[in-house]
Amino acid sequence: LAAAITLSVPSAFAAKPLVIGFSQVGAESEWRTANTVSIKDAAKKEGVTLKFADAQQKQENQVKAIRSFIAQRVDVIAFSPVVESGWDTVLLEAKRAKIPVILTDRAVKVSDPSLYVTFLGSDFVEEGRRAGRWLVERQKKTPDAVLNIVELQGTVGSAPALDRKNGFEEVIAGNPKLKVIRSQTGDFTRAKGKEVMEAFLKAEGKKINVLYAHNDDMAIGAIQAIEEAGLKPGKDILVISIDGVKGAFEAMIAGKLNVTVECNPLLGPQLMQLAKDVVAGKPVPKRVVTQEGVFPADVAAKEFPNRKY
Ligand code: AHR
Repeated sequence: LAAAITLSVPSAFAAKPLVIGFSQVGAESEWRTANTVSIKDAAKKEGVTLKFADAQQKQENQVKAIRSFIAQRVDVIAFSPVVESGWDTVLLEAKRAKIPVILTDRAVKVSDPSLYVTFLGSDFVEEGRRAGRWLVERQKKTPDAVLNIVELQGTVGSAPALDRKNGFEEVIAGNPKLKVIRSQTGDFTRAKGKEVMEAFLKAEGKKINVLYAHNDDMAIGAIQAIEEAGLKPGKDILVISIDGVKGAFEAMIAGKLNVTVECNPLLGPQLMQLAKDVVAGKPVPKRVVTQEGVFPADVAAKEFPNRKY
């Protein structure tokens, strides 16, 4: 009988784990928390060494993190840019160091598109359009009424804030019955959403018919402000938001939010695959768009058990 032969690979030849340096925006929303968990879990599952840095919503912290990833010679740098502009210099440093950069979730505005290999994330303009289309349809129920809209914008200069504003405006433009009367940033957080909604209510009171919030967290904060002002969110003021987190579904089931447009944060598995392909020299698409839906309040109870974030 032939003796069983066991082959052991000398450690010098064992495959080195892929090392990704990831700079996250922060922990500003339920969406962001789900995004971070997805990326960390996917890295673990794929045996990827993840160097994770939380930028606490500051661009300067992201620049520092990227420079530190370059110094550590990671295989891939991935990041979700807090704002769109101001990345050329640091991305050029990464390019010169021959470290590929993958954008996740948010885009950048750079003079040279070769400064990053691919961008994985949602179509924020389309999300804004979807929010606008829901309102245009809803307005048909009260065709004679003018609906005054207040808008809670995301972080100033961020891709989702700019794009969601533009997409929404594009759809309601030309409809004289839909008017944005106030628009201000709530920085994508519940606390700011509440604070700014309080100011809107103080200034406009019962004139406000619709709240369009660029994310669910700001909408949830604003719902509190509406209730504290003695009004009924979802009825006296229609509430439209974006993300589709569990908190939004709970608010819809409670009748306080009318619709949430989905923005999928579960980008981890796709990010790991893209990073592996890039390092293996395989061609990757320059843009990978996440598939998403729209969830109005009347489907919330049925959909809630299926929600993963
Ligand atoms: O970039 C995605 C956005 O950032 C999400 O809509 C928001 O909740 C987050 O903070």
